[in-house]
Order: sequence, then structure tokens, then C-alpha cells
Amino acid sequence: MHKSKITGLGFEVPEKVVLNADLEKIMDTSDEWIQSRSGIKERRWASEDIATSDLALGASKKAMEMAGVSPEDIDLVIVGTLSSDYFFPGVSAQLQDKLNLRNVAAFDIKAACSAFVYCLSVGDQFIRSGMAETALIVGAVTQTKLIDKTTRGRDIAVLFGDGAGAAIIQTSNDDSGILSTHLHCEGKDMRNLWMEGPGSAPGVWINNKQAIADGRLSPFMNGREVFRNAVTRFPEVIQEAMDENGLTMDDIKLIIPHQANNRISQAVAKRMGIDMDRIYSNIHKYGNTTAASIPIALTEAFQEGKIKKGDHIILAAFGAGYTWASAAIRW
Ligand code: UT7
Repeated sequence: MHKSKITGLGFEVPEKVVLNADLEKIMDTSDEWIQSRSGIKERRWASEDIATSDLALGASKKAMEMAGVSPEDIDLVIVGTLSSDYFFPGVSAQLQDKLNLRNVAAFDIKAACSAFVYCLSVGDQFIRSGMAETALIVGAVTQTKLIDKTTRGRDIAVLFGDGAGAAIIQTSNDDSGILSTHLHCEGKDMRNLWMEGPGSAPGVWINNKQAIADGRLSPFMNGREVFRNAVTRFPEVIQEAMDENGLTMDDIKLIIPHQANNRISQAVAKRMGIDMDRIYSNIHKYGNTTAASIPIALTEAFQEGKIKKGDHIILAAFGAGYTWASAAIRW
């Protein structure tokens, strides 16, 4: 069984930069509150004419270019998103078409902030089993179109941003690659971070005016509860990835966490007894881009020269579901 390795990376964010000061003009919030609570200075918002698949396309082209693969090389597409272009089919179908790929397997995974690691894990299993040799793995969102941009939705509105990140994974013929992946879900507390409608559950379809008036067709988050769980699950799943591979923290060059909140990363660093320079952060520029945050951060960390051949890195995610996940990688 050959493991897979990442051979290409790329990301794309919308042009429109939204500063904390811009948010102050449309809701009751402040630059001071946002920066002190989350570390976010600005984020990108997709304009009306940009769909999730457009950002996914830009990120994918860059990842394909870096890997030196052409459309006919790709034999699997997996997209993680919570804001698909259409209710169905998934973004992966639009991406398959826009990239002129062969009629290969293409599907979406809806695991919120953990989606990219979930997608990476599934792609890795396809490659390990010989079902695929070159897979395109994408996390992409234009989720700010879904959020309530008034004071009522301010706890979410100030945190989230749009973007896409992509990776090409291919069969590895040496000792580098994805060493292991670890996926988890605990659905019982899903109501702490969710968007109820439009959905098939009673009362949350688009014809329910009361549900709309009550804000049930926009994301909801019980921030404190999510925070409490995140600071436990992140260290747990990072440790799981190290234990599985006989690694200790001294062996890990960099942790690339889902960019949910800089305070969460600080709490994780403290619990794991490491300095913040071992935990990558770019949340100040993009906010929380859910499924896209890890591939965007991974691409930037790589481009900044923070990951070199032979380095061990860990990707770690936590988010709605709750879902949480990690991947141990030898670069
Ligand atoms: O990506 C998925 C994972 N997501 C996360 O991991 C996010 C986890 N949660 C968090 O990051 C934090 O809980 C938040 C950043 C969302 C909130 O930080 P906090 O320190 O937990 O603040 P809080 O919930 O205790 O709210 C404090 C106050 C409240 O007012 P009262 O009730 O104390 O009077 C809020 O109404 O801040 C108020 N508030 C705001 N004020 C200004 C909430 N949102 C805002 C806002 N601007 N945007």
C-alpha cells in the first residue's frame, strides 16, 4: 500500500477586503472587540457574482500548476464546503466541469471546519487502496453570503470570511507523505454551531417566514461552548496523530490548525507546552474560512518557507457537528 503525498498547493480569496472598521459601520461592534476576542483584523467577502466553485477553480488551478498535473491526470475530486453553489449537486460537479476533467469520481463532504481534513483522509484512502493516483482535494466557501450581517448576527459575522484552498495528492514512492489521518464526530451538541435551514427538518424550509424572521436560516453559534470544546479536542486529536506515528512534540516542525480564533490556538499551545511560533496563524488576514482555512494556511506556510522536505507537520481541525480531525504528514 502506497501512501499519498501532497504535490501541489494553491489558494484563492475574493478581492474584497472587509476591515473591522467596515463592520463597525453596519453593526454594533468594534475593532477592539474583534481583535481582542479573535485576533482578526480583516477578512474577504465574495461579491454577489462569485460562487464557491469560482474560488475553488482558482485554488485548484494553482495547485495543479505547482504539482505539474494536467486535467487528464486527475482521477478523483473531493470538495469540502458548507456553502455549495446550488442546493444540489455538490461544488465538485461544477469544478469537474470548469476544469474540463475526465468523468471521474467527484463528490462533496459536508463536515464544516473539519471538511478539508476529512476530504484529505478520504483521498488518501483512495490512493492507498489503488483506486486513484492523483486526487484534487479542495476546501472552499462563500459562506459570508449566508450570515446575518446585522447586530443580531454580529458574533458570527465578524469572525467568518470567504476563500478556497486546494491540494493535489499523488501516490508517494518514498517515505514522505500523509502518515495517518484521524476523524471524529459527536453529533449530540450540534445545535451549538449550526444553520438550521433551508433544510428538510420540520419548520426550516424556505417557505417558513417565521423561521426566517427568527434567524434560523442563518448560522448560529454558542461561542463559549464551542470554544470550550475546541480547546479540548484540538490537543486531543493532535496528540492522537503523534501517538499513532511514535512522534513527540519535539519532532513536529509546525501545527497547522483550522483558523477559528487566535485565542484557541494560544490555549492549544499552552496545553501542549509549545510556543506560538509552532502553531501557524493567518487568521488576522482572512478570519475563519471554515473548510478553506487549513489549505490556505498550509499553502501560505509552505510559500513562506516554513515547511521543508523531511519536516513533520500536523493539520488539526475542529468545528460544527461537532467534528474534529487531524493529519500527520512527513513533507
Ligand atoms: O470554526 C468553528 C469553530 N468556531 C470556534 O471555535 C469559535 C469559538 N468561539 C469563540 O471564538 C468565542 O467564543 C467568540 C469569539 C465567538 C466570542 O468570544 P467570547 O470571549 O466567548 O465572548 P462572549 O461570547 O463571552 O461575548 C461577550 C460579549 C457579549 O455581551 P454580554 O452578553 O457580555 O453583554 C456579546 O453579546 O460580547 C458581545 N458580542 C459582541 N460585542 C461586540 C458578541 N459579538 C460581538 C461583536 N462585537 N461582534
